Amino acid sequence: MSEIEIIAKQMVAKGKGILAADESTGTMTKRLSSVSVESTSQNRLKFRETLFSSMGMKNFIGGVILYDETIRQKTSSGKTIPDLIKSYGSIPGIKVDAGAKKLAGSKDEKITEGLDGLRERLSEYYNLGARFTKWRAIYNISKLCPSELAIKSNAHALARYASLVQEANMVPIVEPEVLMDGEHNIDKCYEVTSKVLKECYNELVIHNVNLKGTILKPNMILPGNKSNQKATSAEIAKKTLKCLKENVPHEVPGIAFLSGGQTEIEATQNLNEINKINDTNFLISFSYGRALQQSALKNWSKDIKDTDNTQKIFNHRSKMNSLSTEAGWNIDLEKHIAV
Ligand code: 13P
Repeated sequence: MSEIEIIAKQMVAKGKGILAADESTGTMTKRLSSVSVESTSQNRLKFRETLFSSMGMKNFIGGVILYDETIRQKTSSGKTIPDLIKSYGSIPGIKVDAGAKKLAGSKDEKITEGLDGLRERLSEYYNLGARFTKWRAIYNISKLCPSELAIKSNAHALARYASLVQEANMVPIVEPEVLMDGEHNIDKCYEVTSKVLKECYNELVIHNVNLKGTILKPNMILPGNKSNQKATSAEIAKKTLKCLKENVPHEVPGIAFLSGGQTEIEATQNLNEINKINDTNFLISFSYGRALQQSALKNWSKDIKDTDNTQKIFNHRSKMNSLSTEAGWNIDLEKHIAV
């Protein structure tokens, strides 16, 4: 097995998932202002260092996705952030896309940029300690969207990215996110996600990407957040797994979902249901941002010095999601916040 194939498996090994702490400075500023904390580089570092030095990291987090600012920062004791993450037995990764920009030729859609100079940036990130990367493409659902243009151009960019990342000896996380914004029903999400995934894998194969050395980070199949329809966890799980089975090549070792605006409990419960019925060889896990950090951030904002309780909350959330990777979660476990 090649080095990247081993790393891909470690990132989502039994009981482990990925912490997406790669919010850009703009997004992190929004998150911090929502809890009335000033977004300075020191505050961004303090919150992240609090999470990265939690005990939950050791048992439940196989990889952490960092942002460019964070991978260059040092902890209060002078350790680099990648070294801190490694010392907790987890693998440092890095977001390498430059964000979603207006797609020329389409009215409302976005294309993810960041391919120019990527080869050089990847080599720098490798030297800073990163062993995997992330690139996120986003797709809106509406009457006319996503267009063929958005589906094809984003898949092409994802494949060029993935190929460059493997050339640099790192694992690409391929993240095509069909957004949950909108009034559409769950079947529309299923149909669009299927199309998007199919096109992504067409392009990845054309670009000679070794699928065994990749991780897919998809959305779950959900009704839009403004839809009148409510779906049960069982239905979400069934449709999500069906979509993955039909569109993801079996060589892909791991699938780590994004939370995409689900609440912490919804994201945990849905993952648990998916793993209950997982009859594939895919390791099915999480790569959550908001659904792992929200409650911890709320607590931290009340008292930045209260590291203990913030870490307890983060440990709990990580443990709950870890249990879900093995279909071992139930709602009663949410009553006891202890690791
Ligand atoms: P959420 O889990 O908050 O959707 O974030 C995951 C992520 O990395 C989005 O790119």
